[in-house]
Amino acid sequence: MLNRCFMPKSFILPVLPAILAMLFAGCKKSAENPTMATEAVVPTSGTLVVYFSWTENMAGPPAGVQAVTSATYPPNDNVAGNRMGNIEAMATMLRDRFGAYVHSIHMDKPYDSVYEKMHDRAIDEIRKDREVALSGGPGALDGYGTVFLGFPIWGGGLPQPMVSFLKANDLSGKRIVPFAINLGSGMGRIPKQLSSLCPNSTITEGFNIAAATANAEAAEAFTKWLDEHHILPESQGK
Ligand SMILES: Cc1cc2nc3c(=O)[nH]c(=O)nc-3n(C[C@H](O)[C@H](O)[C@H](O)COP(=O)(O)O)c2cc1C
Repeated sequence: MLNRCFMPKSFILPVLPAILAMLFAGCKKSAENPTMATEAVVPTSGTLVVYFSWTENMAGPPAGVQAVTSATYPPNDNVAGNRMGNIEAMATMLRDRFGAYVHSIHMDKPYDSVYEKMHDRAIDEIRKDREVALSGGPGALDGYGTVFLGFPIWGGGLPQPMVSFLKANDLSGKRIVPFAINLGSGMGRIPKQLSSLCPNSTITEGFNIAAATANAEAAEAFTKWLDEHHILPESQGK
């Protein structure tokens, strides 16, 4: 029975040189085309993540307070050593999924660590459309086709440090994907605000999630949303 599977020697011998030639041709092709071998491990480029969070722009915890509990330190995630907020958790997911470069916005003069003081200053900046001085930046933007913008919703719109970032950095020709955390608001006037700040960009619908969501859940929900909206790494098409 098994013998039926073997070809007779009289058939194999005449075609053996041809079979060997085909095998060597295959090896040569791979060696001449190194991109084929490296495609799976080269991280996707062309994607930038810019995010703003209060907890990364805080002048320091108030005297006698060991840790800050806010939506950026969700209590359900407050395990030892975890100081990551939801915006940062989602940015980290984007870094891993898109091979993105991540830039966290830093202000020259951070907000007060007392919530009420920070809130009053932030609202004043929004009402007066004040310019907020920022330190550092993501560097040259030429190589990026997609820019994810992450922020908490403040006053129904963008936090002013994000507005200042967008005024200082030209995102023309790029696709902008907003992602936000909230305490009840939808995206509200944010799409309009982004169109006015970035008139030459393509702005997609934004992802928006309750601030109290656990880090892993927020990252997972955002991943699902990206798939549903066919927002893929550039190497996989737009
Ligand atoms: C100045 C200020 C304005 C805010 N305005 C809104 C708002 O309009 N809608 C909303 O859902 N949440 C609003 N929030 C709540 C933020 O979205 C919330 O603080 C954020 O989701 C959690 O991030 P944080 O811990 O960094 O503050 C506001 C918070 C601040 C400080």
